Amino acid sequence: MKLHNFVDLNIDGKALSVPSGTTILEAAGMVGIEIPTLCYHPALQPDGNCRLCMVEIFRPGKGGELAISCMYPIRAPIEVRTKSDEVVKARRFVIGLLLSRAPESEKLKALAEEYSVKEDPRFLFDPDNCIRCDRCVRACETLGPSAIGPAWRGFNKKIVTPFMEPPKSCIGCGGCAEVCPTGYIECVDESDKRTIWDREFALIRCPDCGEVYTTEEALRFTGIEDPDAKLCPRCRKREYASKFRIF
Ligand code: FES
Repeated sequence: MKLHNFVDLNIDGKALSVPSGTTILEAAGMVGIEIPTLCYHPALQPDGNCRLCMVEIFRPGKGGELAISCMYPIRAPIEVRTKSDEVVKARRFVIGLLLSRAPESEKLKALAEEYSVKEDPRFLFDPDNCIRCDRCVRACETLGPSAIGPAWRGFNKKIVTPFMEPPKSCIGCGGCAEVCPTGYIECVDESDKRTIWDREFALIRCPDCGEVYTTEEALRFTGIEDPDAKLCPRCRKREYASKFRIF
């Protein structure tokens, strides 16, 4: 059996030892140090798109350098500062840019207030509340359908459906809207109908409690052909608990 190599590091004065390959963001979480993130999601492959999680690192014999903490695997001893002047300056710049893209996002408004930042007028260009972090695209890929993706480049980049039409491969699970950090993706549930990406889906009711909880397409995608036989996650948990007398 191969054991992990451990690496020593110091984050904001806290010394710790982590398995080699742990990211700075993960290591900071282990000692209760919070680094702000937007495009990172623990269930998805990190992509380093938003740059908000920047920290300052000091490698032996080198001066301070900025690094993207969600993408930086620790493989050698290192010192990390998450709130140095350099970090705060870089983070303020990033927040200004992102706020210009998504001025209506509650999360960005809160960050802007915390860091006393205003939108950067140089980048107030067609704001639409999407910061192009690709979290929705990575979630859709990870779940399987890959119904959305990026189009165009640079400032013109947008997350779209194929041919900008209601996507045929979408299963209406709402995972993209769930992980979107700015609330750009609209997923509207009204009685027994869900609308997302200009497509309508019939919602399924739990045969036990009667709550709507998913779409027919999402159930079929997971291999369940008979929606009537499927309980919602809450009822399934209750049934499981009673079967095994957990409570
Ligand atoms: S959270 Fe690390 S780059 Fe976005």
